[in-house]
Formats: sequence, C-alpha cells, structure tokens
Amino acid sequence: MAALLPRGKRLGLGGLSQAPLASPPMSIARVGIVGSGIMGSGIAETAAVSGFEVVLRSRSQSTADATLAAMEKSLNRQVEKGKKTEEERDQALARVTGTSELDALAGCDLVIESVVEDLDVKKALFADLDRITGDDAILATNTSTLPVIEMAMQTGRPDKVCGIHFFNPAPVMSLVEVVRPLTASDETIAAARQFAEACGKTPVEVKDQAGFIVNALLFPYLNNAVRLFEQGVASVADIDSAMKGGCGFPMGPFALLDLVGLDTSLAILDALYDEFKDPNYAAMPLLRRMVTAQQLGRKSGQGFLDYRK
Ligand code: CAA
Repeated sequence: MAALLPRGKRLGLGGLSQAPLASPPMSIARVGIVGSGIMGSGIAETAAVSGFEVVLRSRSQSTADATLAAMEKSLNRQVEKGKKTEEERDQALARVTGTSELDALAGCDLVIESVVEDLDVKKALFADLDRITGDDAILATNTSTLPVIEMAMQTGRPDKVCGIHFFNPAPVMSLVEVVRPLTASDETIAAARQFAEACGKTPVEVKDQAGFIVNALLFPYLNNAVRLFEQGVASVADIDSAMKGGCGFPMGPFALLDLVGLDTSLAILDALYDEFKDPNYAAMPLLRRMVTAQQLGRKSGQGFLDYRK
C-alpha cells in the first residue's frame, strides 16, 4: 500500500507525530490544485492545514492572489474562534503558493483538478497535466458527476487517475468520495484514500458512475424541492424550514442549492440525466431559467434566497 507523508509532517511542521513507515513505495508531499473556485480554494485550505505543500493554480495571478487572501481570512476566523493557533495559521499559509502557470505543477505528487464541470475542458487539462507532471504523479478530479474514465484516457497513465471528490464547504464536510474508474490501480485508490484520511476526512470508495453516491441521492431531492415550489405547494422559506425542522437537515434544499451554486446543480442534474435518462434527474425548468438569468446562488448574490443585503 502506498505510504503518504505530508511534507509538513515530515518536517514536524504539522504538529502531528507520525509513526515511521517501513518502506514507503510512494509519497505525497506536494499537492497541486487546479481551479480556485469554491471547491478548489476549500480543498487547498484543507490540504495546507493538514501539512501538505500546496500549489494552487488559477487562470490569472490576480485570482490566485485573491484566493490566498480569502484563505488567510478564513484561517484568521478560525484563530479568532480559538480553533487554530496563530502559528498553525502561519504555517498553513506558508505552505501554499498561488500561480497562474500550469507548469508550476511539475513537481507535484498529486494534482486535483476542480475546474468548471465541462468534460472538454477537463479532458484538455488532463492531457496537459500528463505532459507536465512526473510519471509517478497521481492525477485526480473533483468532478461531481462527469465520467472519470474520459479524463483518465487522455493520459498515458490511466492507472494513476481517479476521482477525489470533496464536499462543500471542503474545510468542514468530513466526507471524500474516492472514485475508481475501470483503469485505476489498487495503489492509486489506496493513496487517494490515505490522502483523504491525512486531510482528516472519511473516504468512501465508489464506482465511476454519474453522481457517485451522494449526488445520485441528493439531487433528485433538491430537484423535487424546486418542483414543489414551482407547483405552488409551499414557499422557499417554508420548504427550507420543513426539511430542517422535520428531518434535522443542517440546511434546507434551497439554501443548499444556493450554496452549491445553481449552475453547478444544473450541470450535475444534466450529467445524471444524460447517463441514466431517468425523469427523476430531469432538471426543473425554473432551475434552468435561473441559471440563464445568472441567478446562481450565493456566488452571484441571488438565487432562491437573496444575499445582497
Ligand atoms: N470554510 C471554513 N469553515 C466554514 C465554512 C467555510 N466555507 N463554512 C462554515 N464553516 C464552519 C464555521 O466556521 C463553523 O465552525 P464552528 O462551529 O466550529 O465555529 C461551522 O462550519 C458551522 O458554520 P456556521 O455556524 O457559520 O453555520 P452552520 O452551523 O449553519 O453550518 C454548514 C454551515 C457547515 C454549511 C452547515 O449548514 C452544513 O453542514 N450544511 C450542509 C452542507 C452540505 O450538505 N454540503 C454538501 C453539498 S453537496 C456537495 O458538495 C456535492 C457536490 O458535488 C455539489
């Protein structure tokens, strides 16, 4: 089984003791993250806090810099709440480099892409990553629904490609879905699981099938909440209240759709429908029209709820 040694921990920076490993056949110390949206930045923060060196690649240096500034703010909040020390914050920030250069990922042992949910964009990126990174590097996707095998087959190392799917907000949610395409080796899956555990997460393994576990179950529910609202059965506020109070969910379906992003939610439903042709996955017309209107949820300031005040 692959051994995984975050560099910070190796140098004692992470503050965690680690039992010596007999003879590690593989080591992940430096992690590349491509994409600095909600998920990319959350994964970068999680990995840096967990002792990994992180190279965060954004399409422009200014976005990369803004993401690092937001990460500092998030860590400052955790210091204020007494959940982290100033030293832990500073060490985590010192482990992250922001860049606009894809070539800066050359020395990474693991790269996780979290760019837009567009298969053509991801396929082109995997071909580039295959060219740029060392032969032993693992290439992973944080896709929610797209076929991992399509990305794996763009590379000369389909055995070293898998899905590592974090949940939003990544620093908080404890689950990681490790997605096994038909081509992945046991070593790659083991290393991905170890990486998730080293990030303090609980990994589950799942077949490369649209929606994996969580989204295959979650999105029919979210879509049906939009159906109820469209049918005039209840208001957004009352449907959210009902699912929080009646089921103990931490947030209602509309608050969750807005958190995930309506564009991402629509892309997930479309990918599920494409794969299964199951009417349960057919996105509600209102959701599609809100995306066209650029009402995307929290990130645009307006979705089913209004965040502009
Ligand atoms: N980054 C870091 N920490 C964050 C955070 C963020 N973005 N958002 C919240 N937190 C932390 C807060 O600091 C707080 O920590 P403490 O309690 O220790 O101080 C904790 O999380 C709770 O936050 P709040 O008190 O602000 O608010 P809350 O209690 O309402 O919790 C929530 C917010 C964690 C988002 C909670 O509502 C929740 O768990 N919601 C469900 C989220 C969910 O279902 N996510 C999965 C979405 S589906 C997905 O991601 C799959 C996909 O592919 C699309």
